[in-house]
Amino acid sequence: MYDHESLIKAIKLVDVVISTVGLGQTQLADQVKIVAAIKEAGNIKRFYPSEFGFDADHSHIVEPGKTALAAKAQVRRAIEAEKISYTYVNSNGFAGYFLPTLAQPGATAPPRDKVVSLGDGNTKVVINDEHDIATYTIKTVDDPRTVNKSVYIKPPGNIYSFNELVSLWEKKIGKTLEKVYLSEDQVLKNIEESPFPLNLVMSIMHAIFVTGVHTNVEIEPSFGVEASELYPDVKYTTVDEYLSRFV
Ligand SMILES: *[C@@H]1O[C@H](CO)[C@@H](O)[C@H](O)[C@H]1NC(C)=O
Repeated sequence: MYDHESLIKAIKLVDVVISTVGLGQTQLADQVKIVAAIKEAGNIKRFYPSEFGFDADHSHIVEPGKTALAAKAQVRRAIEAEKISYTYVNSNGFAGYFLPTLAQPGATAPPRDKVVSLGDGNTKVVINDEHDIATYTIKTVDDPRTVNKSVYIKPPGNIYSFNELVSLWEKKIGKTLEKVYLSEDQVLKNIEESPFPLNLVMSIMHAIFVTGVHTNVEIEPSFGVEASELYPDVKYTTVDEYLSRFV
């Protein structure tokens, strides 16, 4: 990304660029370098900036997540200003990140005794298998319905509140867990008092499990489409199936 000539050379070999740069350092914001190279190369049919999270344009998030999300939105504006065709993939949660721990920091397996909920646990979240996120993303590449659109991956079988997720797990292991509910004020206080990058992770968790950024955006046809509606033939892995692996 930081070697303009090699970037141009690579871009000239392909039709579509899918960026998956990470949240670390300034890589998200530095994708403007890819945008500039795509503009100069002139052959790219579609650019996918690194999104693979929740909607950078319509989501409320507290600091320091706010700054990270603003970097994604700035890259979107750079793409649009350069008149490059794009697709923004709002994949929502990655199963491999959330399910093996039931979203409990530091856990190495879904807990069998106690869980901590951020807020009342009733906010709906979306958790998708990474393979399905990849499958849906690749399917959009040649699909005219997804040009210059946001694609939201929200298959009906993968929408759960934290409470529903915990009771699904309880049913699988035949045991009732102790539940601790942290108030939103407490969650916000914990974010303020935590060092970077822990506070970044916590602000993202707050946005997902308390604010509800996976499910509170109204997908309007002018800017968005939903992946499982576009591709009903994809047999995605459900949260229920995925969680069974840990019993
Ligand atoms: C997508 O947007 C770009 C830039 O605004 C534009 O050049 C391109 O024609 C659009 N593609 C379609 C299929 O509308």
